[in-house]
Amino acid sequence: MAETVAHSISEEEAARYRAEFPIFDHTTYLNSCSLGPLSRRSSEALHEYASAWSDFGAPAWWARWMPKIDEAKERFARLIGAGVHEVTIAHSISSALSSVASAFEYSTRRRVVCADLDFPTIPYQWMAKEREGVEVAFARSGDGIRVPLAAYKQLVDRNTSLVATSHVFYTTGAIQPIRAIADLTHSHGARLIVDGYHSVGVFPVNVKALDVDVFVGGVLKWLLGGPGLTFIYVREGLLEELQPAVTGWFAADDQFAFDASHLVRARDADRFQLGTPAMPTVYTGITGMDMILEVDPERIGERLRLLTTRIIDSAERDGFTVLSPDDPMERGGIVMLESANPRQMVKALAARHFTVDYRPGRVRISPHFYNTTDDVDGLMETLTKLRDD
Ligand SMILES: Cc1ncc(COP(=O)(O)O)c(C=O)c1O
Repeated sequence: MAETVAHSISEEEAARYRAEFPIFDHTTYLNSCSLGPLSRRSSEALHEYASAWSDFGAPAWWARWMPKIDEAKERFARLIGAGVHEVTIAHSISSALSSVASAFEYSTRRRVVCADLDFPTIPYQWMAKEREGVEVAFARSGDGIRVPLAAYKQLVDRNTSLVATSHVFYTTGAIQPIRAIADLTHSHGARLIVDGYHSVGVFPVNVKALDVDVFVGGVLKWLLGGPGLTFIYVREGLLEELQPAVTGWFAADDQFAFDASHLVRARDADRFQLGTPAMPTVYTGITGMDMILEVDPERIGERLRLLTTRIIDSAERDGFTVLSPDDPMERGGIVMLESANPRQMVKALAARHFTVDYRPGRVRISPHFYNTTDDVDGLMETLTKLRDD
């Protein structure tokens, strides 16, 4: 017990990290699941990027930028317990999933199973393949918070090619039992694709222990790197089998051979790459991921359980309906509260210097490890006052 406490993120440590984000000078930021805030370290990294561009021009690719891309891959691989050769970069989760979706064959197994609580860009990839005969089936949530394993069991069979779903639901913060979904999927000879946008940086992730086939994530939110850099993990063994039809010259085995007559794909995960990467986010993505590694995802997970429990306890005391799991171990960093007019509420909170977000019928609160208990107490007090006024 004493060991856990010594290991925990203290209020002082949280406050020290909080001071690294200038946004807190004018608002209490509790919206990391939409966009992680910019740290001073990442601001400096942007200057470093601009200097390389200014100093070198095109040779910056060799002198600075290509090595930076390798560094970014290495950081993400470390965060998910993968080999670097199993990881490549993409521009968004949508582009990552579209090249992944293009690499599978659907003629004998037409069904792709998603969850009805998934972010729309996940099922859209396969709904767009109607011409190829693909049918998307939705595992349905009974309670609007999580999707029971039984709902997947009803849909996954020998006609299923893929299960493609979220690690953590953006709508509720519920963590899915990915290992159990992987076992079910594999027992029917299908593959599992997981969108981990809301898990990496929130708690420890190990793609090998989860036994996923493909995993995507990115630096926009919890990894504090801004828009423009995501990652695709494809497990070794499956990599060589997959031939993405959505592709680009960065996917070639030797892109600088400029051999337009032959498409020879890279042997590693780079076979899923498309075109020229967005370099500013490679810089900020590295500083963001370094901060997460420095703090340690295990400690972040513990801190987020503490902060989200504090929000939920306060919300329940004040009569809000909570649309996130009760069990802290089943929860990522997101808490959803039912709200009659969430848009107006979020605006009123912004006017009182609290930044949160909304989704239809819900206010969404997402602390990170740098938030203090004063941040969440202040928010909940203001939220209750606004509702009662
Ligand atoms: C789980 C999840 N996946 C994907 C996305 C969107 O991905 P992108 O805009 O990178 O395609 C979001 C929201 O930003 C999300 O919450």
